[in-house]
Amino acid sequence: MAERVALVTGGTRGIGATISSALNKAGYKVAANYGGNEEAAKKFTMETMIPAFKWDVGDFKACEDGVRRVTQALGGPIEILVNNAGITRDGTMHKMSFEQWNAVIQTNLSSCFNMSRCVIDGMRERSFGRIVNIGSINGQAGQYGQVNYAAAKSGIHGFTKALAQEGASKNITVNAIAPGYVDTEMVRAVPEDVLKKIIARIPVGRLGRADDIARGVLFLVADDAGFITGSTLSINGGQHMY
Ligand code: CAA
Repeated sequence: MAERVALVTGGTRGIGATISSALNKAGYKVAANYGGNEEAAKKFTMETMIPAFKWDVGDFKACEDGVRRVTQALGGPIEILVNNAGITRDGTMHKMSFEQWNAVIQTNLSSCFNMSRCVIDGMRERSFGRIVNIGSINGQAGQYGQVNYAAAKSGIHGFTKALAQEGASKNITVNAIAPGYVDTEMVRAVPEDVLKKIIARIPVGRLGRADDIARGVLFLVADDAGFITGSTLSINGGQHMY
């Protein structure tokens, strides 16, 4: 395999960090984007030697600039894009502010447009591209307290299928992974009693591990995965069969 350049958004923490490392170990040239946590990004780069680039994926102009910086630093165009960046601002509808709604839609969903738009021309020119969007079980099934997150993640699944149709003739595959509850800071922030009830509903009897998700990404971005497009891979311990 030629050393393809891969970019993982939200790639220095949580599931994203594990995806970045797994791609790196598999021989890809990886760049990890992050939004704000400098300390975590520095630690991640020290430990993995994977360069980290800061910008807000919810801001289109920042994405254009970020893609330019990554391309220059890694010496090649982005051929693999993992849209992983995501946040939660949980709350029931009657308590949710517009800011909570909007932050999640911008960061989790508009980011997929922003980032894909910035790399799609290059992928079309070279007739190769792999885009993996990280959706969620909660975008498939809904979740109490998450109208914003469920709407954004559900949107990702529609976005994936539409872009997959556009990319198909140019050897650009676009797929989604729908993780279940994975043991990360995001899930550990769920109130303990609520989380206990959630784990009780996972047939394999445990939270997912970030590695469980990274394994799916590696599968979907492979050069010989060109016939897999527009699909959603659920990795959720059997919690929701869709
Ligand atoms: N179904 C039905 N009722 C529920 C419920 C559920 N899943 N969760 C809570 N309720 C009920 C409670 O029992 C309670 O009822 P009573 O008033 O009759 O006692 C009522 O809703 C209010 O519950 P809370 O006291 O918890 O209300 P709150 O306003 O303090 O918090 C909440 C509400 C923010 C939604 C909180 O329950 C919460 O954080 N829940 C977890 C949401 C969640 O799963 N988020 C996923 C984060 S991880 C992630 O998103 C990654 C991924 O992709 C999987």
